[in-house]
Amino acid sequence: MEKKRAQWGSKLGFILAAAGSAVGLGNIWKFPGRAYEGGGGTFLLIYIFIVLFLGFPLLLTELSIGRASQSNIVGTFKQLGHKRASWIGWIGVLGAFIITCYYSHVGGWVLRYVFGYALDGPAIFSDSTGYFLNMLGSHPDGTVSIPWVALLFAACFLLLNAVVIINGVEGGIEKFNKIGMPSLFVLLIILLIRSVTLEGSAAGVSYMLTLDWKAFTFSTFLSALGQAFYSLSIGMAIMITYGSYLSQDEDLISNTSVVCVMDTLVAVLAGFIIVPAVFATLGNEHVGKGGSFAFISLAKVFEQMPGGRFFGILFYLLLLFAALTSCVSLIESIVAFLTEHFSWQRKTTTIVLCLIMFLIGCLYTCSQVAVPLKGIWFDAANGVTHPPFCDFLEYLTDRIMIPVCALGSCIFVGWVWKPENAIAEIERSGKRFRLANVYSILIKYIAPLAIMMILLMSLTTGITLS
Ligand code: PHE
Repeated sequence: MEKKRAQWGSKLGFILAAAGSAVGLGNIWKFPGRAYEGGGGTFLLIYIFIVLFLGFPLLLTELSIGRASQSNIVGTFKQLGHKRASWIGWIGVLGAFIITCYYSHVGGWVLRYVFGYALDGPAIFSDSTGYFLNMLGSHPDGTVSIPWVALLFAACFLLLNAVVIINGVEGGIEKFNKIGMPSLFVLLIILLIRSVTLEGSAAGVSYMLTLDWKAFTFSTFLSALGQAFYSLSIGMAIMITYGSYLSQDEDLISNTSVVCVMDTLVAVLAGFIIVPAVFATLGNEHVGKGGSFAFISLAKVFEQMPGGRFFGILFYLLLLFAALTSCVSLIESIVAFLTEHFSWQRKTTTIVLCLIMFLIGCLYTCSQVAVPLKGIWFDAANGVTHPPFCDFLEYLTDRIMIPVCALGSCIFVGWVWKPENAIAEIERSGKRFRLANVYSILIKYIAPLAIMMILLMSLTTGITLS
C-alpha cells in the first residue's frame, strides 16, 4: 500500500519553513557586502526589481510543479514531463548534496563562534584573524593541524539537523521553523536598533538609501541576479519538495509573495545592520562579504561597539538560525528523494546521509588552510586552474549546478510542461492569476535568458555570481 504523502500542518508552518529555507547565510553575510559594492540604494532598488520580475515567478513555478506532481525532485520531472527530463532533478539533488556538505560545516563554525563570543570574547577581539585561522587548524608558530574543534562543531550542527529531519515534515521541520524564524526576526530587530543608534552610523544608513546610478553597471545587475536566486533558494529544486507537501487548496500566489517579502526583508535589514555598523566603527572601506568578513572583520566591529560581546553572541545566533533552517531544507529535499525513490527508511537514510555529508565536509574544512587538497577548474579567463578543494565545491554548485538546474526547470515549465499547466495549478485554489500572460513570457523567454547570462558570465570570466 502506498504511504500517504506528508503535508504541512498549517499555512503558517509552510510559510515559515519556506522562508526559513530562503533566509540563510546568503542574506546575512553576502547581501550587505554586495549591496555596498553595488552602490547601496541603487543595488537595493535593482534587487527588489529582480525579485519581483524573476525571483517571484521562478519561486511560484517551483512550488507549482512540486504541488502538481506531489513528488520529490526527480519524480516531479518524470511525472509531469518525460523520463528524460529527470536529469534536471538529479542535478538538483546532487547540487543540494554538495551544498549541504559545506553549508553544514560553515554552520558548525557559526556554532563555534556563538560559544566563542560567550566564552572567550577577549581572545577573539585581540586577534580575530588568528582566532579564525586557529579554528581552521593554522597556528601562530606556522604549524598546521587537523581542525578538530571546527569538525566537532560541524558534527553537532549536522546532528541538530538530523534530529529535526527525523521528526518529519510536520513534527520536525515545521515545528522547528516556528521557533527558529520568529527568533531570527527578534534578533534582527535588536541588532538593527543597536547598529543604527551607533554614533556615526547615519552615513551608512544614508548610503543604503541613496540612489547613485553611476554605480550601476552590468555586473552589478548580474551580481544582484545571482544573489536573488541563491537567496530565494531557487535552482536547487528545494521549493519543489516543499511545494509537494502543500495541500491543493493553498493559494500559491500569496504564499510565494510572503516568502519573497520575508526573504528580501531579512536581506535588506541585514544590510541596514552591517553597513551602518561598519561605517560607524571601522570606516566604509571595510565593508566586505563572505566568510572572512563574517568571522574576522566583524569582530573588529563588535570590539568597538558598546556591548559588543553581547551583540556578537546575538549576531552569531542569528546566523545560526538562518543556517540551520536553510540546511534543514537542503537535507529534506535529498531525504525525500531517497526515501521515495529507493523506499528507504527516513531515520536510517537521514543518519547515513548526514554522516557521508559530514565526511565530505571535513575535506572542505581541512582544505581551508590545514591540508593542501586541490580541485580542478576551467574558465575562459584563467584557463585550467587548481583551486583549493573548498573553493572547488563552491564553484561547482554556485557557477554550474544552481544555474543549470534553474535553467532546466525554466525550460521544462516554459516549453515542455507548458506555462498553461503551471497557471492551472496556480489557479487550483480558485483564485484567478491576473498576471498569467506576463508570467508565461517571463518563464518562457526572460528567465532562461537571464540565467544563461549568469552561466556564461561565470564560465567565461570566472566570477562567482551567486
Ligand atoms: N537561500 C539560502 C541562503 O540564502 C541558501 C540556499 C540555497 C538554501 C539553495 C537552500 C538551497 O543562504
